Formats: sequence, structure tokens, C-alpha cells
Amino acid sequence: MGVAYYRRFRMEIDLDDIDPEVPVLPEGYSFAAWDPRDLERHARVKLQSFHDEIDSRVFPCLGEFSGCQRLMKEISRQSSFLSSATWLITGSDTDVGTIQGLAHSQTLGAIQNVGIIPEHRGQGLGRALVLKNLTGFREAGLQRVYLEVTAENLPAVQLYDSLGFRLVRTMYKAVQVEAARV
Ligand SMILES: CC(C)(COP(=O)(O)OP(=O)(O)OC[C@H]1O[C@@H](n2cnc3c(N)ncnc32)[C@H](O)[C@@H]1OP(=O)(O)O)[C@@H](O)C(=O)NCCC(=O)NCCS
Repeated sequence: MGVAYYRRFRMEIDLDDIDPEVPVLPEGYSFAAWDPRDLERHARVKLQSFHDEIDSRVFPCLGEFSGCQRLMKEISRQSSFLSSATWLITGSDTDVGTIQGLAHSQTLGAIQNVGIIPEHRGQGLGRALVLKNLTGFREAGLQRVYLEVTAENLPAVQLYDSLGFRLVRTMYKAVQVEAARV
């Protein structure tokens, strides 16, 4: 075994700077508010969104259904869990997007995993999902929201940048890997 280091960005946004418009989804899609009975639906979309992506190397739990399920349980049972910042996007026959939010203090929120399943990307769903989540944070009275993103995940970095998130810190995450991949 060896260790690989992934560069990660912490990005933040001031909620006064977000677009006040209610995010609109393309036809055929709708938002579903958090319901504890939907934990497995979130876990399934999380797996489908992440299993072939860089973040499942950084966080191997994202590459397995049991890991996604455990993560959803851990997130949703925290006292800081914010249901108004937690959403699914549902398409005509399947769930296609997931996001969760935590309120770390009365002013600062944290976005957990944003995921849109591959077949439904590139039509504005990711942007609408993050905006819906930010609106939820704002309605809960928070002022700022941060997230962490792997630097080489360009679609995600560009999405956050285009929404107004700004880089505030660069970090490195050490991940145990097989020697051949170091
Ligand atoms: C990141 C992710 C959520 C984007 O979802 P999406 O629905 O495809 O995004 P949208 O269609 O709303 O695109 C919004 C913006 O994101 C950026 N973007 C999206 N896909 C991109 C790509 N392939 N390359 C570069 N920028 C991209 C662009 O700025 C785009 O705005 P534009 O269409 O005006 O150029 C999706 O790619 C995903 O789920 N990735 C895997 C999981 C993941 O890594 N999540 C982030 C964890 S931090």
C-alpha cells in the first residue's frame, strides 16, 4: 500500500450574493423535500452519481451502496442536519439528483455531496439543485455556506465558481492506495 494526495479546495459563498430567483427545473423533473423514509433513495442516487468519479477514489465509501447508505445515515442523524437544504431531484421514472446540508452554526452551513446521475447531466440540474439547497440555507437564517471539492473535479469546481463560490483554502487529503496507483 502507498499514499496518494488529492488537492481539495474549500469554497464559500455569502448567501446575500445568491440569485434570489427560485430555481426552475427543466420539464419532467421535480424537487422532493427531505423525508427520512427516502434515505435509501438518496444513497442510491449518490452511488450512481459518484461511483465512476474521482471522489470515489478520494472517499471509497462513495463507490459502494453500503458506504453511501452509511454516509446518509451519519449525515441525517447529526444534530446539525438541515432538512431545508436537503433535496432529491426526481425525473419521470427515476431519481436523478441528491444534495444534503448541515448547519455548523447559526450562520455557517456546509454542503455535503452534490450528485447528478451521468445520463441526466449537462441540462442545468446540478445548478438548480445547489441553488435550491442555498435557498434552504438562507431560509433557515444562515449567512455563509462552504463546501469542499477535489481540485481536479473540473465540472464541480466550475459549477461552484459560476454560482459565486470563492476559493478560501487549499488542502490535501491523504488516501491509502495500492502501490501501483501511487
Ligand atoms: C458536478 C455535477 C453535479 C454537475 O451536474 P450537471 O447537472 O451536469 O451541471 P449543470 O448542467 O447544472 O451545469 C452547471 C455548470 O457546471 C459546470 N459544468 C457542468 N458540467 C461540466 C463539464 N463537464 N465541464 C466543465 N464544466 C461543467 C458549468 O459551469 C455549467 O454551466 P454552463 O452549462 O453554463 O457551462 C455532476 O457532474 C456530478 O454529479 N458529478 C459527479 C459527482 C460529483 O463530483 N459531485 C461534486 C462533488 S463536490
